[in-house]
Amino acid sequence: MPDHVDYASQPTSPRLTESAARVATLRAEAAADIEGFWKREAMSRIAWVKPPTRIKNTSFEGDVSIKWFEDGTLNASVSCLDRHLETRGDQTAIIWEGDEPGSQDSVTYRDLHTRVCKFANALKGLGVRKGDRVTIYMPMVIEAAVAMLASARIGAIHSVVFGGFSPHSLAGRIQDCKSSVVITSDEARRGGKRVPLKANTDEALKTCPDVTAVVVVAVTGATVPMVAGRDHDYATLVADASADCPPEEMGAEDPLFILYTSGSTGTPKGVQHTTGGYMVWASFTHELVFDYRPGEIFWCTADVGWVTGHTYIVYGPLANGATTLMFEGVPTYPDSGRLWEVVDKHKVEIFYTAPTAIRALMRDGDEPVKRSSRTSLRVLGTVGEPINPEAWEWYYSVVGDSRCPIVDTWWQTETGGHLISPVPGMNPLKPGSATLPLPGVKPLIVDSNGTPLEGEADGHLCIADSWPGQMRTVFGDHDRFIKTYFSTYKGLYFTGDGARRDADGYYWITGRVDDVINVSGHRMGTAEVESALGSHHHVAESAVVGYPHDVKGQGIYAYVTLKHGVEATEALLKELAGWVRKEIGPIAVPDVIQWAPGLPKTRSGKIMRRILRKIAANEVDSLGDTSTLADPAVVDDLVSNRKK
Ligand code: WT7
Repeated sequence: MPDHVDYASQPTSPRLTESAARVATLRAEAAADIEGFWKREAMSRIAWVKPPTRIKNTSFEGDVSIKWFEDGTLNASVSCLDRHLETRGDQTAIIWEGDEPGSQDSVTYRDLHTRVCKFANALKGLGVRKGDRVTIYMPMVIEAAVAMLASARIGAIHSVVFGGFSPHSLAGRIQDCKSSVVITSDEARRGGKRVPLKANTDEALKTCPDVTAVVVVAVTGATVPMVAGRDHDYATLVADASADCPPEEMGAEDPLFILYTSGSTGTPKGVQHTTGGYMVWASFTHELVFDYRPGEIFWCTADVGWVTGHTYIVYGPLANGATTLMFEGVPTYPDSGRLWEVVDKHKVEIFYTAPTAIRALMRDGDEPVKRSSRTSLRVLGTVGEPINPEAWEWYYSVVGDSRCPIVDTWWQTETGGHLISPVPGMNPLKPGSATLPLPGVKPLIVDSNGTPLEGEADGHLCIADSWPGQMRTVFGDHDRFIKTYFSTYKGLYFTGDGARRDADGYYWITGRVDDVINVSGHRMGTAEVESALGSHHHVAESAVVGYPHDVKGQGIYAYVTLKHGVEATEALLKELAGWVRKEIGPIAVPDVIQWAPGLPKTRSGKIMRRILRKIAANEVDSLGDTSTLADPAVVDDLVSNRKK
């Protein structure tokens, strides 16, 4: 395998050359005058009510204060809808492709605007006001986007909770942000199966007494119990609502949404994004990184429950007047040819997915891909985890027929949108490298003392200065924001990732360096899984680490110590897996559970995860120094009883 695919040896086009040249110019402009640059971008991308005059006011020191465009006012839904009505009201805004092949729908900008206004009025009728939090627990249906935009229209802050999360996880997120309204559906459809979202919501609400209203969208038509006075049928609510809903005028720094994400410690954090900066970033990166041009069909396969769905299914594409495809299903249903069938069916030009999906499909060979023509494809993207060169190569040559550039986009829930990524036409691409920072982004690689490293380097990835799409705080806990991101390396935003910079200045993300596991491109905190395991009455203690997994990137490996007298049986193993599924959701279920009579601890009682990671990865020959352990013998037991 070549260590990079040189663009010069690949088909190029005037358009690709233009795209790459444009970004080079933007990079130079941003470097020369950061405020002038963002002022211009903000003005051209967003429909401001009052255009901002103050552009950047940010500090990563002390209390950490991040403000962009602070005296500007706007409404995100206007930038996504109203201002397109004159020019592209009849253009399709969202194409919906259902779980079952053959089920599809679409909505024009004009229709979407009407639906958003009606639902916004309905939410007002339920008492939702500016600044209130609205939790959205929905499948991938058009109403999920309607719910997000309707919240934005009236200035409510949405918190979308992924439909794969358990009632317990949903309840925690509702309680943390004190939502009074939940929007859900009867059920979700996924890969031919049903997920009982309304029943999950009912279960969650047993511990959420402050929720006064639940809106239920009929998706599958299943009969679900409705609580009188609390639960409302979506269709009935909007049927009675007016289609005239003047947008709430929001400050640029007013929150647009909260999205919960896992960290190395504690419960998930409510990552808070603002209206002005986030919208500018969503529009800027969606256009630049995919070289999006008017009229093109854009498909991001993420779920709206993750930030990728927020920025690249809803806000970025709609701000840019794009046609965005929303897929309800999964890549392998009814078979592994589904994604490519959908690409042909809707003539998708830009396709954006996760390495884990590519690896899963690659295992089924080329045939399911070759059944489709894929001639509409122009740009391919990946996100969520490092892509291994084999998967990159397959994506490039088999899926893209060696015609389409791949943009390997590095970013995080916290960053709002892409920070490090190639752009179409960039030369050369290197499989596995996210390549270069976008205009105005200043990455740094630091050593363990926080000293910035020059040239070729390997260390921790930080960002030296703010960008408009950056998260502003952890909802309700600014100290946690400071502590998590700005205290490891003073004055720098610490990403939690390790990275290498090569001789060409390209960045290679090497993965998380904290106690966060990246399972199939989804973030899971080891502490969360440990806390779920620990709440089972037979568990004395547990330690959870990530380990290399062929398809998922990382798998979850749990070491569990049972209470005295409890027998370690196969049945209990299954019970614990089911317990984690119930506590957090299917994505958190450990791939491996190993019984651990003891865990390797230092004399002060700290679990030495380094050793547990090595055992899980089957690197038992390089365990390193175990002499500082309180009881080195526990390691021998764990090594000899290692699973698989
Ligand atoms: C973590 C953020 C960004 C939306 C999806 C995940 C990893 C993300 C890449 C990439 C290597 C990547 C990082 C990052 N990651 N993109 N292109 N190459 N690693 O968002 O759940 O907030 O996770 O995903 O480790 O820190 P998230």
